[in-house]
Amino acid sequence: MEKGIAHFAAVCYTVLLEWVGRGYPAVEHRTHSEQETEQLGETLAGRLPRGAVVAYTGALGMGKTAFTRGLARGLGCRSRVTSPTFTIVNEYEGDIPLFHFDLYRLGSSDELFDIGWEDYLARGGVCAVEWSERAEDAFDEHTVRVDFRRDAQHDGWRIITITGVDGL
Ligand SMILES: Nc1ncnc2c1ncn2[C@@H]1O[C@H](COP(=O)(O)OP(=O)(O)O)[C@@H](O)[C@H]1O
Ligand SMILES: [Mg+2]
Repeated sequence: MEKGIAHFAAVCYTVLLEWVGRGYPAVEHRTHSEQETEQLGETLAGRLPRGAVVAYTGALGMGKTAFTRGLARGLGCRSRVTSPTFTIVNEYEGDIPLFHFDLYRLGSSDELFDIGWEDYLARGGVCAVEWSERAEDAFDEHTVRVDFRRDAQHDGWRIITITGVDGL
């Protein structure tokens, strides 16, 4: 009986969160090495449906590409992920394909739409976007947000905040 009540409360909470438009709450993770950051990306991959959009924020060198390497592994992509800085987007075949964007050099979000952003969304893969700050209007309330920052205590530690995923 108590279980039933707890389940009912959990459902109400979820519905309420969705209703106020915030989805799942932000969860902060700490990583202590590049490998741990990759591992977190791999864990996230297991929670993403096809068509998911993951928008990264955070400065250069904070681990966005490292995280994406783990994400790719988790999606069953075998090629090694490298930074798409000069190409805007790299594509990886996998159990679920990965489209890895880096908008660092983008002038405006128009350029993202010009290279076919909406076609990528329709292809049933996962879109992971570095420097999403450069094209905020490309993202909606279903976007998973991942913010990266350095831990003040140690150069090699990162605080990675994930918003919009159940249980992560
Ligand atoms: N905890 C950590 N997580 C991720 N990268 C780390 C960490 N500690 C140190 N690093 C280093 O920071 C750099 C991150 O690079 P990268 O993933 O390319 O960052 P970004 O894509 O955000 O510019 C790498 O040189 C990596 O070795
Ligand atoms: Mg990068």
